[in-house]
Amino acid sequence: MGKPSEYGRVYAAWKDNPEDFWAEQAAQIDWFEPWTRVFDPDQGVYGRWFPGAKCNTCFNAVDRHVERGRPGQPAIIHDSPITGTKTVITYRELRDEVQALAAVLRDLGVAKGDRVMVYMPMVPEAVVAMLAAARLGAVHSVVFGGFAGNELATRIDDCHPKVIVTASCGIEPNRTVEYMPLIEHGLEEADFEPSHLVVLQRPQHEAQLKDGRDVDYRAAVDAHKQKGTLVECVPVDATDPLYILYTSGTTGQPKGVVRDNGGHMVALKWTMSAIYDIEPGEVFWAASDVGWVVGHSYIVYAPLLHGATTLMFEGKPVGTPDAGVFWRVIEEHRVAALFTAPTAIRAIKKEDPRGGLVGDYDLSCLRTLFLAGERADPDTIKWAGATLNVPVIDHWWQTETGWTIAGNPVGLGKLPVKIGSPTVPMPGYDVQVLDDEGHPVAGGTLGNIVVKLPLPPSCLPTLWNADERFRSAYLEEFPGYYKTADAGYIDDDGYLFIMARTDDIINVAGHRLSTGGMEEVIGGHPDVAECAVIGIADELKGQLPAGFLILNAGVDKDPATVEKEVVRLVREEIGPVAAFKIALAVTRLPKTRSGKILRGVMQKIADGEPYKMPATIDDPAILDEIAEVVKTRGVGAQAQKVA
Ligand code: COA
Ligand code: AMP
Repeated sequence: MGKPSEYGRVYAAWKDNPEDFWAEQAAQIDWFEPWTRVFDPDQGVYGRWFPGAKCNTCFNAVDRHVERGRPGQPAIIHDSPITGTKTVITYRELRDEVQALAAVLRDLGVAKGDRVMVYMPMVPEAVVAMLAAARLGAVHSVVFGGFAGNELATRIDDCHPKVIVTASCGIEPNRTVEYMPLIEHGLEEADFEPSHLVVLQRPQHEAQLKDGRDVDYRAAVDAHKQKGTLVECVPVDATDPLYILYTSGTTGQPKGVVRDNGGHMVALKWTMSAIYDIEPGEVFWAASDVGWVVGHSYIVYAPLLHGATTLMFEGKPVGTPDAGVFWRVIEEHRVAALFTAPTAIRAIKKEDPRGGLVGDYDLSCLRTLFLAGERADPDTIKWAGATLNVPVIDHWWQTETGWTIAGNPVGLGKLPVKIGSPTVPMPGYDVQVLDDEGHPVAGGTLGNIVVKLPLPPSCLPTLWNADERFRSAYLEEFPGYYKTADAGYIDDDGYLFIMARTDDIINVAGHRLSTGGMEEVIGGHPDVAECAVIGIADELKGQLPAGFLILNAGVDKDPATVEKEVVRLVREEIGPVAAFKIALAVTRLPKTRSGKILRGVMQKIADGEPYKMPATIDDPAILDEIAEVVKTRGVGAQAQKVA
């Protein structure tokens, strides 16, 4: 039996006086200078948290633990079944490495406010690069290693990084991913040119460095370590940006989500005990990638701000070497809580449906499994709960927030779990459900999920250099509220249910992708006249993208050849992470009379779900043509039915 939950009291305390609530949490952070106001509604687009305060995130995540009792405690445990290596880095060693890389970046001209791009695999140096930027008051922008040239180029042109910190390669189970050709491709496409690359050479593949532009990470860092170069943690305003993380929007132009320094630290520190129930010194494992928001918040910042040990895993839930690797890591490193995406658990369940491999390990250290990134399906929750014998906690959040919007705060005492619901809003979030006209809907009724402004600390204050886009994308449709672009409902007990996105974002293996972005790339193929990309249901990855193409009149190539070329193009431009493998040439696309492609109906057809014939449809016969293509080509639920 757990302790009775304090959630109700804590949420009410926040609602009563949000500023007092956050000021109390802010006492957990070391500030160089205090704030003049906890929240100023007149600054920024909708207000700013802790204006006037001076702080440094690297100091709070690293130096203060070295100075105050944790120098010899592991800060990072890197476990890499894919390379067969394990490394433990103490807080003191982390401080020394971060300081040396900060010195290297400083030598290359990086100063407060400059951008540093980080394009790296899951190695500790990726965390070091983020912290080194933070130490200098610079702004990092991490790009996930599974993204390719085009994605790199749009980000480079948007944030103008002075330096890119990268590695010679990443390692996937079926191949070594050479990063330099991808970066060169990105640089060729971009208008802006960073002045330097700092390259970590990995033994699996060494990159050719360019004289004058490229710096060898290890040699440069070791030289500063030997010299004992000191680099102070540069005081920044609490409201200054710590990082920019690009996330998919409705077009191919990703949105640069800005995270500030002060509010981010305050919110994340609070979550470690209240939501995740972790004590400083314990081992916390977020099995994600530093390129995603879960990685930023829960591989890097939150565990380190809390003085916990973060586990960094370079591998996959299956195949490195088997579906027992998560359980091996938990036992070996005494992991107290695991946070991953439901898709990872589905992958394990598929390989080891009876959970037999769990029996090979002692998992008595594990207290909770947290899931996020996509809807947690009931089968996965039940299987994980029964197999691991720990509470399985779904929680809902977005890149934009950086932490849980709705969850079950285990540290405050677990609330009853309702399978299918990420539970209740966290302090800071007044979550409401509105109809399309902006009126509140009755309990249990599906609608647009919104958060009443202001957003709590850590949430994006704006998009990078794009206040107007921030307003129009998030704040305009429902004045006074932040639009989450998720649809769902709140039940009579106040539990939230997240059902679907209201835009064209799809969720593939816990990764957020824009179908609009894929359409832009496909539309660039010289033989394609028009296309529509939809997300179709997939048992393992949740959704998979499928592209329907109309070829230009007069193209005499075999349509199958164009389909293959389009698949290759998306992989080269967006990256393998798009998992774009289904391209279907069709003669017509279903549209409304005003010319809008009926993507929602196409998706229902592919998923074998009932749909209403839209009153505005131009030619209903095209829906039958789509159904026929989907069936004969063996795609989606239609294929399964035929089989
Ligand atoms: N660098 C380069 N390529 C990468 C990559 C990286 N960092 N990460 C993934 N890819 C590639 C994969 O190799 C794969 O390529 P392929 O088409 O040649 O097979 C492709 O991108 C798709 O990757 P993914 O969708 O991850 O599928 P997968 O088959 O490699 O693994 C799962 C499937 C379910 C095991 C895996 O998706 C997983 O563990 N997901 C966890 C989700 C997660 O961490 N989400 C973050 C939010 S919490
Ligand atoms: P990202 O910004 O990549 O974290 O993706 C955020 C989106 O993923 C949300 O808007 C949801 O659509 C989806 N999502 C994340 N967590 C959950 C969850 N626990 N339940 C349902 N959907 C989720």
